[in-house]
Amino acid sequence: MKRQSITRRAVVGSLAATGLIGSLRGIPHASAQASRFETPLAIPPLLSGETLDNRRRYALHVQPGVSEFLPGVKTPTIGVNGPYLGPTVQMREGDDVEMVVTNGLREPTTLHWHGLHVPAAQDGGPHQVIPPGGTWSPRFRIKQGPSTCWYHSHLMGRTGEQVLRGLAGLIQIEGTSQASLDLPSEYGVDDVPVVIQDRRFAADGSFAYISSMADVMMGYRGDTILVNGTLSPYLTLRRRLTRLRILNGSNARFYNLGRKDGAEMTVIGVDGGMLDTPARLRRLRLAPGERAEVVIEAEAGGNVMLMGYPISTGRGMGGMMMGGGEAPFPILELRAGKLETSPSILANRLAAQPAWFSAKASRTRTFDLEMGMMGGGMGRGMGHGSGMRGGMAGAGQGHMMGINGRAMDLSRIDERVPLGAIEIWEVRNRTPIDHPFHIHDVQFRIIDRDGQPPRPEELGLKDTVVVEAGGVVRVMAEFADFADPVRPYMYHCHILEHEDAGMMGQFVVV
Ligand code: C2O
Ligand code: CU
Ligand code: CU
Repeated sequence: MKRQSITRRAVVGSLAATGLIGSLRGIPHASAQASRFETPLAIPPLLSGETLDNRRRYALHVQPGVSEFLPGVKTPTIGVNGPYLGPTVQMREGDDVEMVVTNGLREPTTLHWHGLHVPAAQDGGPHQVIPPGGTWSPRFRIKQGPSTCWYHSHLMGRTGEQVLRGLAGLIQIEGTSQASLDLPSEYGVDDVPVVIQDRRFAADGSFAYISSMADVMMGYRGDTILVNGTLSPYLTLRRRLTRLRILNGSNARFYNLGRKDGAEMTVIGVDGGMLDTPARLRRLRLAPGERAEVVIEAEAGGNVMLMGYPISTGRGMGGMMMGGGEAPFPILELRAGKLETSPSILANRLAAQPAWFSAKASRTRTFDLEMGMMGGGMGRGMGHGSGMRGGMAGAGQGHMMGINGRAMDLSRIDERVPLGAIEIWEVRNRTPIDHPFHIHDVQFRIIDRDGQPPRPEELGLKDTVVVEAGGVVRVMAEFADFADPVRPYMYHCHILEHEDAGMMGQFVVV
């Protein structure tokens, strides 16, 4: 606890010294957006692949593009099979797949399958760099059930920048078990992807990225909300029940989602799969990297605005800095016209959780999330160059973020997990702001947060979990497959600026 207060003082003190407190950004475009949500929500194309030798093959071409988000303003972007974001990749449980990823950029990149349980060598993390003009063709089997996962760049030190420019897309895994549930499942009709991102624009129309120390310490926050790359979008609801597959694809912003009319939303699934039983709630917190499958009930002729409500993602001084006082802002207008009768129903039992949920863990590992700067907080090992770009020149210290006293180092394995182990990972947040902690390879279960049971909507399989400022979260996971003593998986904060600044580590399964 002593260590924590030191860290907090170091962070807050340094921020005060750099004059960052009080210069935080709200959503100035919000009121302008509120008046007219007149653009139909873009629906990413569905990519279901082709069968070749009993294998589903998906072609993903990473390419530069130009997008027009703001009327008349050209923004240089990157995307997959298009100028911005990528297709929704549809896979089936049990399928053998091959992803043929070609890099059409003039810079290296990677494509990571966030949420997928695949060998480390196929994971698309910072070790699987695809050079400009290169092709990477990982093959793996889909060994997990119905869920909404995603893919994004994971280039060392530059994940935040490449994701910001558009290098991300959804993966939806279909399963045999889900068919019997009769959930809304017609893509783009009553089963709709919703990728929420915030952006800022520079005077020349390009996305403005890190421009101050706050963008790193607090994470990048934009003043403009895009959904699937659409500004001020509306979605026409055609059936009484509509499933939204919501991804917080923002670099750092947390959302506190809710319907403006105050009605409840029904969460049926989270990161790695369906909940046991639907969770009805008025507000849904979604941190960067997290997904939720939400069923919206519509009434004919009713328009509902999906809103972002104020949320404080820090404590003490951290709370003041993290946008707790922001005004609510509109995200997506849901327009119900004439409604067809829904072929779908909402079952009360959605999924059974895996057997290891009730098993005993063989050991507990602890992970302390830390931020320090100007020599405070973090100890040695902070000098590794990260490619931190733009606006960081004044910092002069390189890394400021780490886990267990060390910043990410590609050449260091931090943890060795025995194959087949069931472990508890205890993540302790030693900073004044919240961090979404993400583990590759596995889908875990949240045991508790600060000794309390997780929220009802967190009772499914998860791969990303919010660890609140000063708090502790325990998760349990089974490391069932894919031993590889050399090639590691990552664990990290999913605030991409924190990840890029070193709040990441590596584990191997042996
Ligand atoms: Cu979504 Cu290691 O990433
Ligand atoms: Cu991941
Ligand atoms: Cu973080």
